[in-house]
Amino acid sequence: MKPKILVTREVFDDVLDYLRQHFEVTSNQDDVQLDPERLAGLAADKDGLMTALTERVDEALLSRGPKIKAVCNIAVGYNNIDVAACTRRGVMVTNTPGVLDESTADLAWALILATARRVTEAEAYVRNGEWKRWYLKQMLGADVHGATLGIIGMGRIGQAVARRAAGFEMKVIYHNRSRLDPETEDRIGATYTNKEQLLEQSDFVVLQVPYSAATHHLIGEADLKRMKPTAILVNTARGGVVDDAALVKALKDGTIRAAGLDVFENEPALNPGFLDLRNVVLLPHIGSSTESTRRAMAMTAARNLVAALTGGSPPNLVNAELKSG
Ligand code: GLV
Repeated sequence: MKPKILVTREVFDDVLDYLRQHFEVTSNQDDVQLDPERLAGLAADKDGLMTALTERVDEALLSRGPKIKAVCNIAVGYNNIDVAACTRRGVMVTNTPGVLDESTADLAWALILATARRVTEAEAYVRNGEWKRWYLKQMLGADVHGATLGIIGMGRIGQAVARRAAGFEMKVIYHNRSRLDPETEDRIGATYTNKEQLLEQSDFVVLQVPYSAATHHLIGEADLKRMKPTAILVNTARGGVVDDAALVKALKDGTIRAAGLDVFENEPALNPGFLDLRNVVLLPHIGSSTESTRRAMAMTAARNLVAALTGGSPPNLVNAELKSG
């Protein structure tokens, strides 16, 4: 008998076909948001789950699905999963690193450019019929070329953001838990600095750290005050890395110039203060959302699940202590 799995969100047909070769598949192809009770009901008799960041996988869910051996997230981040609880129960957790780096870096750049040159604000002005004449001081923005880019979190995505800065002749500084080796620093043209100096010197601060207790409100009121009043904050990492209430206040008071945000605390609910501001570009967590990248993420998660449930070692095992052999 084939193992039983649950796919918690709609996925691409070819991914489902691949999964069906190995498993008896229940998939949420209608893409309804599963509340915890419904999720637990569907997971009860399953051997594995393919999840997205919209599903919370915790002790309560695992206790209702005693046969679950693997939880394969369609995301590089896995803060929706209580990994310690999974490890205690011997449940393998996997993510999708690597396949989304370039697309997510592209989107960080879309936000850098959109905020600096007021692209969404200017477009709304045209669409709303407010554009009646040309004038010299119209929609004055900030230059991206030649500016200083500060990147907090210099993993694969942070490095992909840094590489793109060469074309804009920017100075790139970064802060990370651990410093990169000198060859990598050289290759991507980035200089290590501490967080305080990075905030003080950067014209653009891009956040690319995973969310954890250690990065909760990494950027709060005091950090925003440390930034230049002309600086722009870009968050393509995770909601909760920034204190959104403090950011709304900083954008309103002119503590910083603008922000470009793809992620929010409690998303998809937004701090309502953001909606009243013109100096913020708001996106619905689409950092990795290109056709080819979302396909690659779903297929990566599927391959992890197949490996996990057929006795292999999933390529992207997060709780490495469960590695077989
Ligand atoms: C998206 O946010 C991801 O973690 O892949």
